[in-house]
Amino acid sequence: MGSSTTSSASTSPAHRPAIPEIPVLGFDVVEFWVGNAKQAAHYYHHAFGFDIVAYQGPETGHRQTSSYMLRQQDICLRFTSALSPDHPVSEHVKAHGDGVKDIGFRIADVQEAYAMATDRGAKGLCAPSTEQDAHGSLTKATIATYGQTTHTFVNRQNYSGAFEPGFTPYQQATPARPTGLVRVDHVVGNLGQGELPQWVDFYETVFGFFVFRDYDETDISTDYSALISKVMANASLTIKMPLNAPAQSKGGKKSQIQEFVDYYGCPGVQHLALITSNIVETVAELRHRNVELMAVPKNYYAHVEERVGAILEPLDRLAELGIIVDLEEGEEPDSEAVQDYMLQIFTLPLQDRPTFFFEIIQRAGATGFGKGNFKALFEAIERDQAKRGNL
Ligand code: FE2
Repeated sequence: MGSSTTSSASTSPAHRPAIPEIPVLGFDVVEFWVGNAKQAAHYYHHAFGFDIVAYQGPETGHRQTSSYMLRQQDICLRFTSALSPDHPVSEHVKAHGDGVKDIGFRIADVQEAYAMATDRGAKGLCAPSTEQDAHGSLTKATIATYGQTTHTFVNRQNYSGAFEPGFTPYQQATPARPTGLVRVDHVVGNLGQGELPQWVDFYETVFGFFVFRDYDETDISTDYSALISKVMANASLTIKMPLNAPAQSKGGKKSQIQEFVDYYGCPGVQHLALITSNIVETVAELRHRNVELMAVPKNYYAHVEERVGAILEPLDRLAELGIIVDLEEGEEPDSEAVQDYMLQIFTLPLQDRPTFFFEIIQRAGATGFGKGNFKALFEAIERDQAKRGNL
């Protein structure tokens, strides 16, 4: 990690809460509540290369919902739909569209974690319970977080079945063709105006997490969109969760965070950042499969070298694929010695409402979240706009 000087964040022990952290081993399953889980599973299988590993529904004795469990390396996604209009999943989809309902946390002692969380003020939704079948047992508990989103604590150590008791292995017509995605890097929540302090406090006082990075509107602001963001993390950095809230842009335009909250109907998960070890190959494959990716103005690349200095990937290939680059915060670009940097790209929203999307990210040493890219992208758009005489 470089010597970050631009951010007001600190990882020093003095800034960490004095309470013991709830020991979270890492992200577990991310569950989506959607209108049509069957089609969603098919889409994420073919477009992004996830294996459909397990299924639960009427055929397995589950009368109310259908649920598909998808996996690529360490990334586990679950898609659930209800089979009747008055089911909570249907109500949720009606209000919010397709979206993330639950961010799972892998935890060794679910009982202890749930007791710690609820003792510290978290709203408990499902007390710890253990389910068993011939493949072993699995313990889960759920608490509420921002908006309608929840965190489920899971211990899978004593379970060897397809996914969870009640699920059956899914017979895929074709095995997945992976796209090189390996694990979840971070999960981003969008909050309403003025709601950031309360949720920072929640992750500090309930989980014992700390503010890993802190961005104010001077860091992430253009004439068109402004936001403030704090990245909540656990000490081992296996959990990183940026929390965004709208800020007033210089031009008085609506923040993209507010647009999300308006369409989703409440705070919710804006994006999941997925790690690849070779973003050039991953993005080439995603483009080949017609995954819609955010367009990058060509003139963005005219300024990349002066922003980040030398990098290992050929710049013309990055430009061809629309991959963007950011130097580690606080480091100076060097035209010869490669510094810590990161490569990233964003999909367009993955459902009709302009809400949830994926980020694909490759970290070449950098630990940040692409702050420089936000500015560089919008400046490039504004340069194009100025050329057309519209700025
Ligand atoms: Fe991100």
